[in-house]
Amino acid sequence: MNYKVPVIAGDGIGPEIIAEGKKVLEAAADKYNFAIEWRGYSLGAEHYLKTGELVSEETLKDLSHYRAIYLGAIGDPRVAPGILEKGVLLAMRFYLDQYVNLRPVKLLEGVWTPLKDKTSKDIDFVVVRENTEDFYIGMGGRARRGESHADFEIKRNLYNIKFGLDIDSDSEEIGYQIGEVSREGCQRVIKYAFDLASKRRHTVSSVDKANVLSDIYGLWREVFLDVARGYPTVKHDFNFVDAITMWFVKNPEWFDVVVAPNMFGDIITDLGAMIQGGLGLAPGANLNPEGTSMFEPIHGSAPKYKGQNKVNPVATIWAGALLLEHLGQAEAAKDIVSAIERNLFEGRIKTYDLGGSSTTSEVGSEIARLVGLV
Ligand code: IPM
Ligand code: MN
Repeated sequence: MNYKVPVIAGDGIGPEIIAEGKKVLEAAADKYNFAIEWRGYSLGAEHYLKTGELVSEETLKDLSHYRAIYLGAIGDPRVAPGILEKGVLLAMRFYLDQYVNLRPVKLLEGVWTPLKDKTSKDIDFVVVRENTEDFYIGMGGRARRGESHADFEIKRNLYNIKFGLDIDSDSEEIGYQIGEVSREGCQRVIKYAFDLASKRRHTVSSVDKANVLSDIYGLWREVFLDVARGYPTVKHDFNFVDAITMWFVKNPEWFDVVVAPNMFGDIITDLGAMIQGGLGLAPGANLNPEGTSMFEPIHGSAPKYKGQNKVNPVATIWAGALLLEHLGQAEAAKDIVSAIERNLFEGRIKTYDLGGSSTTSEVGSEIARLVGLV
């Protein structure tokens, strides 16, 4: 078997962590007799500063012919915040319609958690974050005193929506952002969460803020209940986003599958990452089950550590395991996670964030070695 996988190392520490991810995935490929042919794409700050282009339609189309993309990180201090993140990362998530952002929150054995008295038995849930709608659709602007008009268009595989907005304001200046969720968009991601829970511990927890943002998240809740009716063996509950941050800290063992709209999902998964030992350990998958998915660490490009061979590559390596699982190499994926687990449990070769002094490449090489032993 030979898999062609586009790889976007990206910005900051991206190239260093992706190099270790490739190393480990190749070790797993050797063990299980398959091959990975990496197709490098140079997207991110360098490409943008050189050409003025974020990501072309042609590149997006090209990427859409693959099943899985391996991504390092996007974001660079030489470019204003948001330009690359929205213009490259979100552009890919949206164009490829990766409507599920899957973020496992699992404390591996031997990893320190800031939660007192909690162990790997207590912290093992998955956040299913909606990845194409909500306040992320880019619909917003600024308006100065007086009358003005703004038009917006949202293009998705599921639908096209046009908004025309007449503004008549006597405030000196306003900034506004409009969020939107659709019945179809909520349905597909919530259904994904229930299917996943059916294979796990049969519980889905919904996140919203329907007590205040009742139009947008009222629809989310309504759809959640509709979908829940189709899964009589799966238990469900509702959580306001502020409250769930509290429960993640106090009772993480309550959770199995947590499903959240885009922005709340973004916020609670940084908290999730911290209780599983830190951002250096947290992987993510942007999934389009019928199309092209993309696998990345949930952390960013950490520009201040760029080129120092210092940061933790585990999140990226783990994301690589999710990629192999997605391609149908479940055994190889399992071995990578076991190798990560063993490396962390032994605790000899670890990066600074875990209290060690090993380099990025030493950790990658060690996990690659362990893949052959587990
Ligand atoms: C993430 C990141 C992105 C997001 C940013 C960089 C656009 O924070 O993947 O969680 O908000 O989704
Ligand atoms: Mn985030």
